[in-house]
Amino acid sequence: MSVADLTIPLTNAPGVEMPLIGFGTWQVDHAAVAVAAAAGYRAFDSATSYHTERDVTSGLADEGLAPTDRFLTTKIWRTDMSDGGVRRAFHLSSRNFGVDTVDLLLIHWPQNAKSNLETWKAMEDLLDAGQVRAIGVSNFDAADLDALATGSDVVPAVNQIELHPRRQRKALVAENRQRGIVTTAYSPLGQGGPVLQDPELVAVAAQHDVTCAQVALRWLVQKGIVAIPRSSNPERIRQNIALDGFALDDGQMARIDSLPRQLAN
Ligand code: A2P
Repeated sequence: MSVADLTIPLTNAPGVEMPLIGFGTWQVDHAAVAVAAAAGYRAFDSATSYHTERDVTSGLADEGLAPTDRFLTTKIWRTDMSDGGVRRAFHLSSRNFGVDTVDLLLIHWPQNAKSNLETWKAMEDLLDAGQVRAIGVSNFDAADLDALATGSDVVPAVNQIELHPRRQRKALVAENRQRGIVTTAYSPLGQGGPVLQDPELVAVAAQHDVTCAQVALRWLVQKGIVAIPRSSNPERIRQNIALDGFALDDGQMARIDSLPRQLAN
């Protein structure tokens, strides 16, 4: 099976499967979404604060796809973190996407514990009403997850965090896993910065005749971490989902696993 078609079950949202590779839509337009859809991306990650929900819908439409043909994620921005705010924001998001049910809704950034919980309760209502298939969080640390658990039995299905070979977040990934939370890596390519020139990645890439970006993404997929690379460049959009035909062996995985944290991006 092609990596583009691989999914991971969301343990805390029984029955929901999430594609392991998705297209990040921060700062991209509908033309990039259309290229990604044509290239085979099965999931699109948006947020109200990106203002790209309508680009997702129109980019998919350009390729003759309905929004329901793809796994769609959006996020609740901090100014909407209240009971009424969640309802209003969700109403707008579902209209922008042109769907009744959104696959995954996340709290974009944690605020104080009270605000997180009020927001979460409103998201639980959307879940109960079948308006979202799964709910989760983004940028939460272990203390934020613990605080949420004191007021709710619904454990997030996903925690979306910044993660790439030079910022591995091992403790938080382990915390997520322990709670059955699937980790999603945003900026999996280190925002196109020095990560992609890392000598270890360069060496592994040369062994497989692929790019450093492809090595970074393959490393995440093999670890069972969802990756949502973004690009506005058609060639790179296609490259980032062309992850078949090579696999990292245990030694290569271990070498990347042991890369140190990069302090500056
Ligand atoms: P561009 O849009 O010109 O392709 P991240 O997903 O980690 O945030 O990285 C996104 C950044 O990395 C964007 O600036 C994007 O620029 C760049 N990028 C995306 N894919 C690749 C790739 N395969 N090789 C090099 N740079 C990439």
